[in-house]
Amino acid sequence: MRKDGFSSQIGALMAIIGSAVGLGNLWKFPYIAGKNGGATFIFLYIGFMIILCLPLMLSELVIGRRAGLDAAGSFKKLAPNTKWYITGLIGVVTAFTILSFYSVVGGWTIEYLISSLTFKTEDSNAQAHFTDFIQSPIRPLFLHLSFIVLTAAVLWTGVKNGIEKFSKYLMPLLFLMILGLAIFSLSLPNAMLGVEFLLKPNFADLSPGLILDALGQGLFSLSLGMGTIITYSAYIDKKENLVQIAVITIVMDLIFALLASLVILPAVFSFGFQPNEGPGLLFITLPQIFLQMPFGSYFAIVFFSVLFIAALSSSISLLEVIVAYMCRATKLSRKKNILIIVSALSFTGAICSLSLGPLANFKIFGNSIFDFFDILSSTYLMPLGALLISLFLGWKMKKTDVYDELSNSGSLVLPLFNMFIFLVRYFVPLAIILIFLNKLQVF
Ligand code: PHE
Repeated sequence: MRKDGFSSQIGALMAIIGSAVGLGNLWKFPYIAGKNGGATFIFLYIGFMIILCLPLMLSELVIGRRAGLDAAGSFKKLAPNTKWYITGLIGVVTAFTILSFYSVVGGWTIEYLISSLTFKTEDSNAQAHFTDFIQSPIRPLFLHLSFIVLTAAVLWTGVKNGIEKFSKYLMPLLFLMILGLAIFSLSLPNAMLGVEFLLKPNFADLSPGLILDALGQGLFSLSLGMGTIITYSAYIDKKENLVQIAVITIVMDLIFALLASLVILPAVFSFGFQPNEGPGLLFITLPQIFLQMPFGSYFAIVFFSVLFIAALSSSISLLEVIVAYMCRATKLSRKKNILIIVSALSFTGAICSLSLGPLANFKIFGNSIFDFFDILSSTYLMPLGALLISLFLGWKMKKTDVYDELSNSGSLVLPLFNMFIFLVRYFVPLAIILIFLNKLQVF
């Protein structure tokens, strides 16, 4: 086994699933699906998972394990004396952009965890409660900082291994919690309106914005297009099956996103909220569900704890991309680098947080800073990263090397290998370019 490597296939798989399953599934997916009209978005999303995200995930796994380095380092090693390493640098910038707003939402999960512990979920006006909270100047800032410091503490003390082991129990627990919540949510009056919203597509809804949202959300949810999977894959043992890891991760990630929507949207319709409520959707809907549920306040404690840890295992993977890169690129120690990055993030995160309250009038291209960071990463940087990664694997790497890595030097049979190469060479890059041109209204 490699130094610092994951101890087993389960370890590697859990870390990658831990990175993938997070706020993207539970917080973001339901509100993006809600904003985009539900079913049409979801069908397209599932399609993208199979034909775009799966090949991309395999590409990142191959690149990372082949090179055994951080995101930028991997490109340098596999394509020395070229500019391909810029792809890795873009990933580092993307990780920084995402973490700036992700840690703000991480702070919100801490707030809701604290209120559930003090049984304060019985607030009957959940919407006003949420808005008051995110607009207040101090509390969200403090919680955002706590979230970032906790993320850094995990990387600092090396309890990452502990988290990995913990994930083994956490993911099944999260699954059971969400399943229980979905069943309860479906039993609410008018819940079927929500189910209809999620299942009955109206293809007239298909718009360039929706297609780009589905692509961005797929990449975000699977931690693709910015080097996280490359960075983690560098630690995966040579005898593990990368195809299996990719498929299981995608299936799990999808299940969590769909189940989360089955919790949120039926409840949204039942309580008379709007599905296009935006980033507050989860935080407004859940307290209402807990309020009506038998033993809801206890359920709330477990749920918000698990949500918090799921968010943490994703933010760790984001921070690791930056830390791994900085440690190689600078002469500074790992701990010094962590301190520098955390200081920078506490600043950018604070601005994101304040942009929902005191700095609300300050707009970038018509968006709050929080939204701008979100859009910049999911809609622009990650698709750009994904495009470069697919081009790298499809055109720069030798097909025989790719085969060797993916098949564990020929010991696994890969019946769909040529199909995979076709997808990364032609389909994925063309699809991403077309989605962009379409969005820019070139045609
Ligand atoms: N995939 C994570 C989530 O769904 C977020 C993330 C994006 C993590 C990119 C790492 C890299 O919450």
